[in-house]
Amino acid sequence: MYVCLCKGVTCGAIRSAVQEQGAVHLRDLSRNLGVATQCGKCACAARQVLKDALDCSGCCGEASEVAA
Ligand code: FES
Repeated sequence: MYVCLCKGVTCGAIRSAVQEQGAVHLRDLSRNLGVATQCGKCACAARQVLKDALDCSGCCGEASEVAA
């Protein structure tokens, strides 16, 4: 599902950014994927997908580190 229509970013892309690039903040997604850098309407949804990905403790086969 698309989270950021302006930049064409999907939840899968956000999960990948967390697992492969170590994204832990919305600003990481903005820098790496361009999320919330245009209209900004996706910021809330992007934060939720980011939180869900960070809370995932191996349920999808990939453990992700959570920032302290
Ligand atoms: S929908 Fe993400 S910046 Fe517009």
